[in-house]
Amino acid sequence: MSAGNRFRFTGVECVKFAVQDVAEACRFASDWGLTYIASTDPEMKVFRAVDGSEVQVFAADPSRIERTPIGGGSGLCELVFGVEDQQTLDALLDELSKDRRAEFDAEGVLHSVDDLGINLAFRIAQRRAVTTQEVTRYNAPGHAERINRRAPRYEAAKPREISHIAIGVDDAGEAVQFYLKRLGFIVSDRYANRGVFMRCSPAGNHHHVFFMNAKVPGTRFNHLAFKVRDIHEVIGGGQHVESLGWKTFAGPGRHIISSACFWYFQTPFGGSWEYAADEDIVTPAWEAQDFAATSHVFTEWTFGLEKSDGTLKGPISGSKEKAL
Ligand SMILES: [Fe+2]
Repeated sequence: MSAGNRFRFTGVECVKFAVQDVAEACRFASDWGLTYIASTDPEMKVFRAVDGSEVQVFAADPSRIERTPIGGGSGLCELVFGVEDQQTLDALLDELSKDRRAEFDAEGVLHSVDDLGINLAFRIAQRRAVTTQEVTRYNAPGHAERINRRAPRYEAAKPREISHIAIGVDDAGEAVQFYLKRLGFIVSDRYANRGVFMRCSPAGNHHHVFFMNAKVPGTRFNHLAFKVRDIHEVIGGGQHVESLGWKTFAGPGRHIISSACFWYFQTPFGGSWEYAADEDIVTPAWEAQDFAATSHVFTEWTFGLEKSDGTLKGPISGSKEKAL
C-alpha cells in the first residue's frame, strides 16, 4: 500500500559521513567550495552549501553504530531528509515504529533505518531556498538576454545546495521498495534493471536518491551531487578542484537522465562528489521513463569517460545486457 504524499519532504537536508581520514575529507570539502561551520561537538566537522544543506564529517569507528559507514571503509553513516513540519515527523514516527527503531533525539530529529540498514534521519528543514543569486542569462540567435554585460566567470565553485545522493546496492528494484511504499517517494526515471531515480516530493528536483546496481556486492555510498548555478560554474569549479590535485572520476559531461551537466571527482568520502547544473525540475505531470541499460545512456556527451572497449569509467556498472 503506497504511503501517498502524506509526508511533506523537502529534500536531502544533510549527509553524515564516517571517514578514515578526517583531515583529508575536510580539505576536500573546503576545496569543493563548501563553507566550514564551527561546531560545539569536537567529533563533528560541518560544511554547508549556500542554502544551508550540509555535510557532517566524523572519524569512522566500527564500535559505534552511528559512526560506522555502510559498506565499511569511508562512507555514508546517516542520510538526513528535511520535512516541512512537526506533523510530518510525528506521522513518520507512527509509520516507521511499526516495524523498526524510530526515535527522536534531544534536538527533535527523528532517527530510523531503511530495509538495507542505511541509517536515516528526518528533521525540520533548515535549508532556505537561494533567492539572491542572479539568474544566468544566455544569448541565443533571435533571443538575446544578456545585453551590454559580460558573461559570468568562475575561478571556483560555490555549491548552492545538495541535489541528490546515489547509493550502490545489490538490487536497486528491491532497495527502493521501502522508500516508495513506506515514505511515499516517487519514481522519476529508471535504468532498466540497473537503477531507480526517486524524488521525495511530487514537485521539484528530478531526483533526491538514486539506487543503482553496483559493480561490487553490498550496499555503499556511491556519490553526492551539489547544484551549482550553471555549466560555467561546473567547469570553473572542476578546473579549480583539479588544480588542487584531486582526481576526476567522470566528466565533465552531460547526463541524458535529468539533463544535468556534471563533473565527478574522487573524494576521501568513500565515493565521488558531483557538481551538477541545469537538472530537470518536475511536477506530478512528469512521466517516468525506462531507459535501456546501454553505456551511452549515462551521458549525452563527455570527455574522457568511455574506454576503448565501449564500457564506461563512470559510476554506472557495465550493462548486464551486454555481458550476457
Ligand atoms: Fe548524480
